[in-house]
Amino acid sequence: PRFFALVPAAGVGERSGAGMPKQYVEIAGRPMLAHTLAALAEVPRLAQTLVVLSPDDERFEAALPGYAGWVARVGGASRAESVLGGLAELRRRGAADDDWVLVHDAARCLLRPEWVDALIDACQHDAVGGLLAQPIADTLKAGDAGGRVTATVDRRDKWAAQTPQMFRAGLVQRALAVLGAAATDEASAVEALGLAPRLVRTSMANFKVTWPEDFELARRLLEHK
Ligand code: C5P
Repeated sequence: PRFFALVPAAGVGERSGAGMPKQYVEIAGRPMLAHTLAALAEVPRLAQTLVVLSPDDERFEAALPGYAGWVARVGGASRAESVLGGLAELRRRGAADDDWVLVHDAARCLLRPEWVDALIDACQHDAVGGLLAQPIADTLKAGDAGGRVTATVDRRDKWAAQTPQMFRAGLVQRALAVLGAAATDEASAVEALGLAPRLVRTSMANFKVTWPEDFELARRLLEHK
């Protein structure tokens, strides 16, 4: 089987406060999406990377001039729909049922090739697949709309799910089609089929740039790489 990467980059990034889709915000001299794709390009085992854009994206060509990889303007209203559109495109371009697809958020621009290699090493002989994740170090609280604690959640068996998340193309396509737009990651869709994805421990530096203050932290990390 081959390994493909699929990068959903069709979000609007409302929480970032950037006034443009966050994947195009410049960090350390180039757009966030360019950092993400550069890291994936350093993983020799990946046969191809497919970037999923919104059908009305007007920034990609200017942000990544001359980009030679695969691009599909099939983004949807939710992340799950964007990934499903990308999976259909990968199948059209020849990905088989048992080829692996590593779905990676455009907004995790701190990605390092060695983390991708670790995921592939840990999962390529697994019956289900798996994801990069980080055990929760903080005490976890549930809160209400008024900003008050409603409960303390046992953190002992909790992990923060990251990406890439790696599953066979056929399986993840079936799983997302069943769970639909409700899935915020691929693993949850696979879990809904009764399967248990493998957790592959990784670094907190693989965080998703989401809130306004995240851009400064990402800049510092990228400038000192
Ligand atoms: O919104 P969230 O931070 O969960 O988005 C994670 C990734 O999914 C981002 O890279 C974003 O561009 C992508 N996304 C997408 N299509 C959507 C929503 C999010 O490709 N409709």
